[in-house]
Amino acid sequence: MTSRRFALAPLSVFLTLVLSCLAARAADNSAPHLEKRGAVTQLIVDGRPFLMLGGELHNSSSSSLEYMKPMWPRLAGLPLNTLLTPISWELVEPVEGRYDFALIDGLINQAREQHVRLVFLWLAAWKNSVSSYPPVWVKQNPERFPRAVLNGSVSTTLSTLASNSGGLRDADAKALGAVMEHIKRIDGSDHTVIMMQVENEVGTLTDTRDHSPAANRGFASAVPAEVPRYLKAHREALNPELRDLWVAHGERASGTWAEMFGDSSRADEIFMAWNYAHYVQAVAAAAKAAYDLPMYVNAWLGGGDRAPGSYPSGGPQPRVIDIWRSAGTALDLYAPDLYQTNFADWATQYHRPDNPLFLPETNGGAAGAAWVFYAVGEHAAMGFCPFAIDAAFSPEAALTTEPSLAALVKGTGELGQSYTAINAIAPILLEQQAKGDVHGFNLSKQHPSVEFTMKGYSVEVSLDQVFGYQSDVGYGLLMMTVDDERTGRAELLGVGRGFRVIVSSRTPGRHVGFAAIDDGRYEDGKWIAGRRLNGDETDQGGAWRFDPRAIHTERAALYRY
Ligand code: DGJ
Repeated sequence: MTSRRFALAPLSVFLTLVLSCLAARAADNSAPHLEKRGAVTQLIVDGRPFLMLGGELHNSSSSSLEYMKPMWPRLAGLPLNTLLTPISWELVEPVEGRYDFALIDGLINQAREQHVRLVFLWLAAWKNSVSSYPPVWVKQNPERFPRAVLNGSVSTTLSTLASNSGGLRDADAKALGAVMEHIKRIDGSDHTVIMMQVENEVGTLTDTRDHSPAANRGFASAVPAEVPRYLKAHREALNPELRDLWVAHGERASGTWAEMFGDSSRADEIFMAWNYAHYVQAVAAAAKAAYDLPMYVNAWLGGGDRAPGSYPSGGPQPRVIDIWRSAGTALDLYAPDLYQTNFADWATQYHRPDNPLFLPETNGGAAGAAWVFYAVGEHAAMGFCPFAIDAAFSPEAALTTEPSLAALVKGTGELGQSYTAINAIAPILLEQQAKGDVHGFNLSKQHPSVEFTMKGYSVEVSLDQVFGYQSDVGYGLLMMTVDDERTGRAELLGVGRGFRVIVSSRTPGRHVGFAAIDDGRYEDGKWIAGRRLNGDETDQGGAWRFDPRAIHTERAALYRY
């Protein structure tokens, strides 16, 4: 065999290759950002859509590099790809104007060693609506940094009102701006840090609003023009509850808070929403000016007939997100801390055309293992991050007796199985999300089935049953990967456990059957077929089944006649 030597490529070809690599690197070097892609908005990291299968640490875990060191390999082995990690104003700026970034540097280095991305939570003026994270030089200076008056007495919670005069807000913004400048300097090319949370669950607890002198003056004043201007410009897209309240009071273009929204706790909540929003949007804008990463706020959920104050009044609840948006554009996302059992209702309220779903906190364990499929399948959630993800790996794990935490520790393995299965199909899932052909579901005895359409097909998904046995748990996602109208060829990909699928045609008189059902797996995006499922495993050809005992990845081809 004559050895074929490649002639030396001319210099121009060599240079083209080098330049295209540099261009590709430059494209990848764009900072993490959100991008509208077809039917959805996705997080883009290093130039590609990124599906965040993450977790949030306990509040104090990341305050010590030593404490975190043994955690990282086990967290990465879950496998999670992102860790939501608190950093605090008190540890970053212990003395006004003097910043200490050693902890941030250490956390970034530890995350890099495990190829895990980070979302930093900036715990500063408020965390769970109270002010335990500001530095002492802030806490001990109530003249410069006034407190909220709640239920008739001065609280230890910093007031967002007086801060708008440039006290607390400017100091907070300056500190976060310094943090972002530092992160850009050390991580602007590596993108270990991919998003930032600004404050944590802000809002006024135990009272419907701040009753400090500045707050009372503000509440009696005219609503800032930005609010009615936004309401008018976005009237048809407003949250229905907010629109109805505004319309019920005359759809006014001006007036005091009580004149525009009625003299009730709802007006108090809207007033507080404006003031927290005005503050946080300004802090986020200062941070973005230093390093433009996606930024969001998270909400301690209330809603329904609960009175503001029993949950943080003014926090980014669905019914005041529009008020938050009227105060600025620096925040990219409004995110629920979603622990509620009516998970689907809340997810649907937050997943708006102008607000992709992101879950910075939610349940882990078996509940998280199930709901992650619904979140990324039905709502194209860009991130799913159970809280206390480190509970199963902490020194205290074995000593845990508190039932919900013990269940979370026990169920971490099940969550890991879901993450492993979704990770394997993530590139396909992200592509199909953009096309809008994905559905996710979490079935139970209370909700044993769900129906939806996919192109020309009706799809029914129900708890699996065979030979008299019925599963009481079924969760997963389905997507249509091929739909060739000309040949009638269609293919679906499914991942999950404990459910069965029946597909029918939406065209009267046309029939659909399963031409083939295979289980298997994806490795580096390549399908590795396993069994051809038939007989009992398809209920004698009558259903596309997913065994309840473990998560399976299966492909089904349809035929029509
Ligand atoms: C929600 C908060 O955002 C977290 O920091 C933590 O306090 C959890 N609640 C505890 O359930």
